[in-house]
Amino acid sequence: MSRRSNRSRIRSTVIVLSTAALVAAGAATVSTSIAEAATGDSLGVAASKAGMFFGVAASPGRLSSFVGQEFTQLTPENEMKPETIAGSGGSIQNTGNADTLVNYAQNNNMIVRGHTMVWYSQAGSLQGANQSTLNNFIKNALLKWGNKITYWDVVNESLDDNNSGKRRNQWPHTLDKDSNNDGDFLDDADTDYIRDSFKQARQVVQSNNLKTKLCINDYDIEGLTVKGGGKNNKADAMYDIVKKYSQAPYKYIDCVGFQSHFNDNPNSIITNDLEANIRRFGELGVEVHLSELDIDDDLSNNDIGTGQADNYRKVVRACLNVPKCTGITVWGISDSESWRSSERGLLFTGGNGSYQKKAAYTAVLNELKKGRPTDPTPTDPTPTDPTPTDPTPTDPTPTDPTPTDPTPTDPTPTDPTPTDPTDEAACRISYTDNTWNSGFTAAVTISNTGDTPVSGWTLAWTWPGNQKITSSWNATVTQSGSAVTARNAGHNAAITAGGTASFGFQGSYSGTNTTPENFTLNGSACTVS
Ligand code: G3I
Repeated sequence: MSRRSNRSRIRSTVIVLSTAALVAAGAATVSTSIAEAATGDSLGVAASKAGMFFGVAASPGRLSSFVGQEFTQLTPENEMKPETIAGSGGSIQNTGNADTLVNYAQNNNMIVRGHTMVWYSQAGSLQGANQSTLNNFIKNALLKWGNKITYWDVVNESLDDNNSGKRRNQWPHTLDKDSNNDGDFLDDADTDYIRDSFKQARQVVQSNNLKTKLCINDYDIEGLTVKGGGKNNKADAMYDIVKKYSQAPYKYIDCVGFQSHFNDNPNSIITNDLEANIRRFGELGVEVHLSELDIDDDLSNNDIGTGQADNYRKVVRACLNVPKCTGITVWGISDSESWRSSERGLLFTGGNGSYQKKAAYTAVLNELKKGRPTDPTPTDPTPTDPTPTDPTPTDPTPTDPTPTDPTPTDPTPTDPTPTDPTDEAACRISYTDNTWNSGFTAAVTISNTGDTPVSGWTLAWTWPGNQKITSSWNATVTQSGSAVTARNAGHNAAITAGGTASFGFQGSYSGTNTTPENFTLNGSACTVS
């Protein structure tokens, strides 16, 4: 087979896989294939095979052929911001650079994320506008590019910094009114620019038969917790907004962007519960994107991996593990061309179209190639196969025939493997929950603090309250009364000495969501931190 025909065979395989997988994940269906342009061993192709896009933010000056070869999605870094394209009264102007990016994306079969319509910053002539003018702009922006834009960030960065869980207090929030002074702007009688902007966008999409999906985008909403383990109030506030406006009767919001600018800020670190938070939003039915990913290469003591490449790997894995996480976009190509060049947070070094892959690139590519878990979310809390990959630690009955040996004077079994399970490695459990009215999600990390690797584990605990687990991920969780048993998934069965394994679950409760008690790992009591 010639090199050329071999290459076209790879392409067509990717086209079939990517389209099917994206449809299955609920992602926007893309005209032909978002993977067609990206060829060979690229982030875009690997992501497509896993049913997601892998994109980049760029300006026209960065559009070498490299971009279309490596990525399957494009976000204009600055060219669609109102500062650039908003004219008087919400009209559209000066779209030359944005058009260049859209045309490049079309020619390279990349999908486009429009960024961004309603934002307190870089608002240009929209700064201080009333809702009517915002609505004009929303309509004009949507109709200008129509279905050439797959996802639009309708509202960007509406929530305050410092984990307050509140709206920003400047425009456009100055349009809001809290009718009953209950502290939120989600009541029907409230005025809420988020609701009204999405309402307008939805109406334009529907009345013009557009397929464009409508997203809300923000930073520091990635984890369920922040540094120190406290609740991520900003993430919770975003959850409330998305929950309200993605569900009936509104159905305005299709997708949420976790910007994912990870750095040493206490609210911007990578936490082990990133996946659980992605999953929580996904269970609302919206797509989740890591929409502006970059990771400081020196996260001092706040990283969950061992250096930047491992942090990238874990972040990509968190997305892959959740079917509704349908895309990742890195915020720039190379470190030197990044808005945060001093953090060296991207996947390439070099510049001007000549780029060198970093270890982080290889880590991301390899993780994407592993794809999604085959059984990421057992929705049935009583799975039919409770058998861990290595049954030894949970099996108290030695298979060694020694007990029938007619020389019982020797108490020592010849096979040392099935020793008393209470001899298993020491363990420490980190348990973090995120609780709302009658439900919660929990992220559990098991640390093997002993000297012996664990291959196959069963973590058991009891509830002091009436908690009932409804779904789980990265472990098979069964419950009998107040007793719970979590068994490893295939990919996290092994825990090296000093290593960790994580899983999560969702549950319901009434009264108080008390913390689990009496954790045991393979029969051995664990400490809780
Ligand atoms: O183009 C001018 C140039 O002519 C001038 O000489 C130079 C002098 O400072 O400025 C240039 O404009 C800069 C522009 O980026 C283009 O490089 C602006 O000063 C600078 O403020 C602007 O920064 C952008 C920033 O948003 C503004 O908030 C970054 O490129 C862009 O990456 C960044 O993107 C945001 C997302 O939209 C939202 N999420 C956070 C993300 C990072 O802040």
